Amino acid sequence: MSNLFRKKSIEQVLKNADNEAHSNGGTLVKSLKLRDLVSLGIAAVIGAGIFSTIGKAAFNGGPGIVYLFIITAITCGFTAFCYAEFASRVPVAGSAYTYSYVAFGELVAWIIGWALILEYGIGNIVVAVSWSSYFNNLLEGIGIHLPAWVVTDNATAKTIYDAALQNGKTTEGLAWTSAPVIGGMKLIVNIPAFIIVILITALAYIGIKESKKSANFMVAFKLIVLFIVIVVGFFYVKPTNWSPFMPNGFGGVLAGVSAVFYAYIGFDAISTTSEECENPQRDMPRGMIYSLIACTIIYVLIALVITGMVKYSEFQGVSDPLAYVFEKTGLTGLNYLISVSAVIATTSVLLVFQIGQPRIWMSMSRDGLLPKPFSRIHPKFGTPSFATIVTGFLVAIPSLFVDANLMTDLTSIGTLFAFVLVCGGVLLLPIDNSPDKKFNLPKIDGQWLVPIIFIGFVALFWYKITQGIVNVSNPNAEVWTNLAKKNFISVPPTPEELANAAATEFARFKLFLIFLLLASYMSIQTFLKKWTAIPVLGVLFCSYLLIEIPVKSWLVFFAWMGAGLAIYFMYGYRKSKLANG
Ligand code: ALA
Repeated sequence: MSNLFRKKSIEQVLKNADNEAHSNGGTLVKSLKLRDLVSLGIAAVIGAGIFSTIGKAAFNGGPGIVYLFIITAITCGFTAFCYAEFASRVPVAGSAYTYSYVAFGELVAWIIGWALILEYGIGNIVVAVSWSSYFNNLLEGIGIHLPAWVVTDNATAKTIYDAALQNGKTTEGLAWTSAPVIGGMKLIVNIPAFIIVILITALAYIGIKESKKSANFMVAFKLIVLFIVIVVGFFYVKPTNWSPFMPNGFGGVLAGVSAVFYAYIGFDAISTTSEECENPQRDMPRGMIYSLIACTIIYVLIALVITGMVKYSEFQGVSDPLAYVFEKTGLTGLNYLISVSAVIATTSVLLVFQIGQPRIWMSMSRDGLLPKPFSRIHPKFGTPSFATIVTGFLVAIPSLFVDANLMTDLTSIGTLFAFVLVCGGVLLLPIDNSPDKKFNLPKIDGQWLVPIIFIGFVALFWYKITQGIVNVSNPNAEVWTNLAKKNFISVPPTPEELANAAATEFARFKLFLIFLLLASYMSIQTFLKKWTAIPVLGVLFCSYLLIEIPVKSWLVFFAWMGAGLAIYFMYGYRKSKLANG
């Protein structure tokens, strides 16, 4: 049993990385400076989230989503500090996977490595699909019309078809009705998503320097456009639109958790490039924290501007909120620029994630948990060649077929799961007070702070119950209306919708109780052992965001983790370097 928790020391990790890098065909190229890391961070963070998913969050929460952006930023900030602490002590590729190997041992490291595939690989499928939809909008804007069946997936095509039927609209020309039928199956594929993944994979394959240059260019472009949006938009803000600030209360604001969190995913991705940094111990922590601060400022300003330009209620069903607000104010010229920027922003996210995934596999392979070719470094390009190609296929092929909506929650679960373990892992690290340490986690005493925050969570739980949001044992009309609003179902809901919503809410209620158990345990420990606050708050806030994700996605997550464990016991457990001396 103790074998499952076999650990590597920090010294062992550093030594192995060094040896392996030299025995696998070549070494990674050390070319990243602080400026590049901040740029890669911004490249990975600002993408589909701000250009698209915040529309729904604004509709539910009103201008009050600004609070959610700030709360989420603080949560990510706790995590960024913990990543930074690890990154400065263990400056090798592999991110949360490598960190958990040191803190928790092999089994947890494997679990985290497997969960990170959800963040990077599966996350990139979502990004590729949304890239394709922006790109298609752009083409339509200049009069190029691709057949509907080459720019979407089967499930989405069917949903659009059903909606058209229901609303009495024509179904002619829709993907579902125009797709060729081969062997009795409709051929509906997302070709642009597939092509962009292949192109980006090629860029990631040929070199970190080329990738860095492209990322820097894309970041500059999207920042300029967002700056224009903020400055021009500011002149069109009508302060009356900010009132009421939270039209659906704090519950309405919290309904946007998943969308807003998604917008922040990515700042951690730069930690996969540690071995390509000139000075990882000093620059990696700063890179992560600076990019997070920059993105938060931009997000808060954008949220204020767009909810000031247009009444929150108008964001219902709007998937391109930034372009939408300018269209509403008559500034259609800016629309096109925003669409171009959305395409560029999502391209940069794709690139950083497509760089991150192979480096995690490379680390896992160095440890013997994946076959050797995964750690092969290209002798000329200095990139993990085989792992990059496998990542390309892993992302490109599903992007042809899958419905991205299903994947978004999985991405958030995988990411938050990693965050919880990284924050928890910091609590297990040996204390290092050496004077030449290049980054120090700010010490904030948690002894009283954490229990006070715990009381806040209990109050939130109470608030939810009294609002009837989670109380399904004694439903009344008001409770059902709340449920309907929160679960985006019609009012009055059908009996089937009600039953589903009730089951979902009940599961949420149980998850909240489990969360409160964890939180009470952490609070007591912090009080007794005087733990420092940042990692503990990271664990608590990230766990809280986790339980806000719909339960049905959890089931898929468990299936995914089950498959991962089976592979570990069949392969990694026996082949691990730690097992074989
Ligand atoms: N944060 C990234 C985005 O919004 C994943 O696209």
